[in-house]
Amino acid sequence: MTIAEKAGQMTQITLDVILEGEMYNAKLPHRLDPEALNEAITKYGIGSVLNTPGIPLSIPEWHKIIDAIQKIAIGNTRLGIPVLYGIDAVHGVNYTLDATLFPQQINMAASWNPDLVEKAAAATAIETRASGIPWNFSPVLDICKNPLWPRLWEGFGEDVHLSTELGLAMVRGYQGEDIGDRHRVGACLKHFLGYGAPVSGKDRTPAWIPERYIREYFLPPFEAAIKAGAASIMINSGEINGIPVHVDKFLLTTLLREELGFEGLVVTDWEDIKYLVSRHHVAANHKEAIRMAINAGIDMSMVPDDFSFTEHLVELVEEGKITEARIDESVARILRFKQQLGLFEHPTIDPNADYSSFAGPAHTEIALELARESITLLKNDQDQLPLAKTANVLVTGFTANKMSCLNGGWTATWQGDVADKFINGKQTLLAAIQDKIGTGQVQHVEGCSFDQITSLDEARNAAANSDHIILCLGEMTYTEFHGNIDDLTLPQAQIDFATAMIATGKPVTLVLLQGRPRIITAFADEISSILYGYLPGNEGGRAIADILFGDTNPSGKLPITYPKMVNSLVPYDHKHSEITPIQGSQICYNPLFEFGTGLSYTQFQYSNLTLSKPSITTEDSLTITIDVRNTGKRAGKEVVQLYISDEYASISPAVRRLRGFEKIQLLPKEVKTIAFTIEKQSLSFVGIDNKWICEPGTFMVKIGSCSAMFELR
Ligand code: BGC
Repeated sequence: MTIAEKAGQMTQITLDVILEGEMYNAKLPHRLDPEALNEAITKYGIGSVLNTPGIPLSIPEWHKIIDAIQKIAIGNTRLGIPVLYGIDAVHGVNYTLDATLFPQQINMAASWNPDLVEKAAAATAIETRASGIPWNFSPVLDICKNPLWPRLWEGFGEDVHLSTELGLAMVRGYQGEDIGDRHRVGACLKHFLGYGAPVSGKDRTPAWIPERYIREYFLPPFEAAIKAGAASIMINSGEINGIPVHVDKFLLTTLLREELGFEGLVVTDWEDIKYLVSRHHVAANHKEAIRMAINAGIDMSMVPDDFSFTEHLVELVEEGKITEARIDESVARILRFKQQLGLFEHPTIDPNADYSSFAGPAHTEIALELARESITLLKNDQDQLPLAKTANVLVTGFTANKMSCLNGGWTATWQGDVADKFINGKQTLLAAIQDKIGTGQVQHVEGCSFDQITSLDEARNAAANSDHIILCLGEMTYTEFHGNIDDLTLPQAQIDFATAMIATGKPVTLVLLQGRPRIITAFADEISSILYGYLPGNEGGRAIADILFGDTNPSGKLPITYPKMVNSLVPYDHKHSEITPIQGSQICYNPLFEFGTGLSYTQFQYSNLTLSKPSITTEDSLTITIDVRNTGKRAGKEVVQLYISDEYASISPAVRRLRGFEKIQLLPKEVKTIAFTIEKQSLSFVGIDNKWICEPGTFMVKIGSCSAMFELR
């Protein structure tokens, strides 16, 4: 290969570049611009294309575009290398019309159900391949340490163990045994590393994370997924400790390649090499930025909208500022990935592959079940829920009648705000409630928008004629920096509207559809029942209606801490000094609802916590068993959560850390004995020299209401 051919392979452009129309304002319907296509493929030999702008495409439209790209890549270039198409299919193949839209990752986390998560990912893989696309920019393995961060809902929440287990499930679902299988895709873990902890809470802004905490809290989900064979990784757009991650040779080469042995493809995030100049100011121009990023370990640049990367890279190699050996490594990874995906055999859709399950009942059922298992009942005083199906209800609040509010960003379009135009045949929460109990029993008044009261008198009048108010609040859709906020509190108009609905004296159930835990403390005490729906996807309306009226027993548990106050945003695995007052001082950890919380319509009792040994050495394993009994009247699912606390350690220990979980189903009166086996790693932490260590001492095990101590010798 020539240097130019190699630089081309390392270039990724967005589809806009080769569509008819202006950049970022493509003509509709999308049509490839033959001249632009020729320039991109024949002249520059670009290796990869991503995205689709503005509107979702139908399957035939996708095929037409990808067929045309591959035809020219194979027919009109010297080497005939197929193009690698990548897409964000983050909750189903969300840029393909009529695809199954699963709950977002934060709901997957709230389900605490790896089997269902794997099934949803496997179904997404089929629907992505059915669209002709072999590469998925998912899952997000960022641990969110700041609930202001607008990408919280794109990940599995704040805990490293839960994120690791569910990340593995998602990679298994996407990749299966062989990413060349026509029903599987290559996964892309993102965003390596430490993206979820910006100091400001705003997207793509600096994080300060000591290496010790990088290794303990942020690295494990990536490390596990790499060991499980994840094919590619996308890099964090932000900076850590003053170094933009895209030029951090320690993270990208020493840690990722040499220590973890990752052999797959590393792609930048959107425009990130250019951002080294325009946002981070570590390079004076694009060419210098390319030199830094490629030498740090980047394989492919998501440029995304011109060929400057390709041209500068050729110059840099010719000038000896980047060695040809360095780019050879990257090109080899790119070509190997294309080969593993089967692109050389079937650059477009394989005519013999069966995609009849696309958006079919089996996939819908997975989406529905996952939504049901994620919805989290946070409060249910006097067993207010479930409601009787004979009740007359007022459904009010702006999230009640929008498919966009069920789905969030990355739905039909990047920001997800016009999703309602493109989603057919699915029910909003309002429609699902009407379907369940009959339109005659349901009044609907919008009442308030995201930040304005729109119809208060009408809502009050309707409330007067209702038995119960279902108050649907939360957030509008957003993605990335478009979701930056200065205040986690729910907008004042929503608080005022909630207060007015409470003042009617009618019982109120609050349903929250929102990507992050907006603060509701101003009125939460006055409300008897609260359901947190997160962003439950296309079947979310049905799932919530099933729970409201008792057809489903809720089993979701918070994968995040729900804060009470705007300036107390400490996660559950905080330090003792954050809960130990000095002379009666305020403490930091003061949540409204704790991580792992979630009620059921039945009750579970924990007893007989037993340890296989009272003390162990680092060579032993310890088996912990617990009996869980359903003491209520309904069958239900419970997430049995194992927490371990190290009493004293050379690095101040977390108050508790999740070290195991299992979701079980119990019939009324049924008892199950659950066993967890833990080893040294569950008791270890990253020590002063940034290596995992295990120190002797006393540990506490806690499951439900039971606890026990043991010694590590
Ligand atoms: C996001 C990534 C995404 C990429 C491609 C970026 O702006 O940060 O998560 O995969 O765009 O769409």
